[in-house]
Amino acid sequence: MTVIQTRGLSKRYKDSWAVDHLDLSVEQGDIYGFIGRNGAGKSTTLKLLCGLARPTQGEALIFGKPVRDSVARRRVGALIERPGLYPDLGGRENLRLCATLLGLDSPERQVAETLETVGLSPEEKKPVKHYSMGMRQRLGVALALLGGPDLLLLDEPINGLDPEGIREMRELFLRLNRERGLTILVSSHILGELSKIATRYGIIQRGRMVEQITAGELERKCADYLHLKADQPQRAAALLERELHLTRWEMRPEGEIRIYETVDARAVGQLLAQAGIVIEEMGLHRQDLEGYFLERMGGADHV
Ligand SMILES: Nc1ncnc2c1ncn2[C@@H]1O[C@H](COP(=O)(O)OP(=O)(O)O)[C@@H](O)[C@H]1O
Ligand SMILES: [Mg+2]
Repeated sequence: MTVIQTRGLSKRYKDSWAVDHLDLSVEQGDIYGFIGRNGAGKSTTLKLLCGLARPTQGEALIFGKPVRDSVARRRVGALIERPGLYPDLGGRENLRLCATLLGLDSPERQVAETLETVGLSPEEKKPVKHYSMGMRQRLGVALALLGGPDLLLLDEPINGLDPEGIREMRELFLRLNRERGLTILVSSHILGELSKIATRYGIIQRGRMVEQITAGELERKCADYLHLKADQPQRAAALLERELHLTRWEMRPEGEIRIYETVDARAVGQLLAQAGIVIEEMGLHRQDLEGYFLERMGGADHV
């Protein structure tokens, strides 16, 4: 089932397009990594997806319904830019207020459960103005989780966290995705933060979708050669060339063979084993993921 579908979604501010004919689709159960540089249009897209901004052109469907449909919108939890927190209140009080505004049943229980889910102590009395960045982001995610949404929209939730905080956030997203079946769209300007958890990626540059790709497709695309080291490299190469009709391969110094076309690694293994050739190393070499994304986001020079 498609959870988010946009067609030609566009938003113009004064004389520039913040979002420019964006076609984005997110399937149920996805953790969708929405990647782009600062100013690429991520926050604006997320605002359009939860009704905080109106499109200039195009449309966005959530669970098959327009964003303005109140039933569909109730299934969405969002954290966009900074969470709207009352600085002088504690975390628990902030959640309580939000739960009351949402008209939730048994708000106390939901507040306590949500605090536990994101790893904040219900006993924490400190006003949120004294919260660390990590605690603030957790509370922001807690606010988005109130009401039990089926879709979470999270705008750079990992921004400004330390490595430990990043790891914990990633684990939280995986848990919500696996245990509760939540579909999650999470934006970032740093790929490394999402590459461990995303099932699909959308790369946005100057308001436009440059590429939408599943994690599996990305892996295949980034695999650029099969690397092989054998105890008799010349014999191995001759055999492979003859039996597998290889044309795109090369012999590197120190007897490393690189095969640039798609071959079945098991077939290579069997063939060499039958000929009594010992394989010392074999594996797929991948293009660097970070490089792949930087190229598509518009070069590495203007972060
Ligand atoms: N309310 C606004 N008024 C005018 N321009 C805006 C507004 N919000 C965003 N923009 C512009 O739209 C572009 C995309 O911004 P934004 O969606 O915030 O990007 P991102 O979240 O990827 O950093 C930027 O050039 C930004 O300056
Ligand atoms: Mg933003």
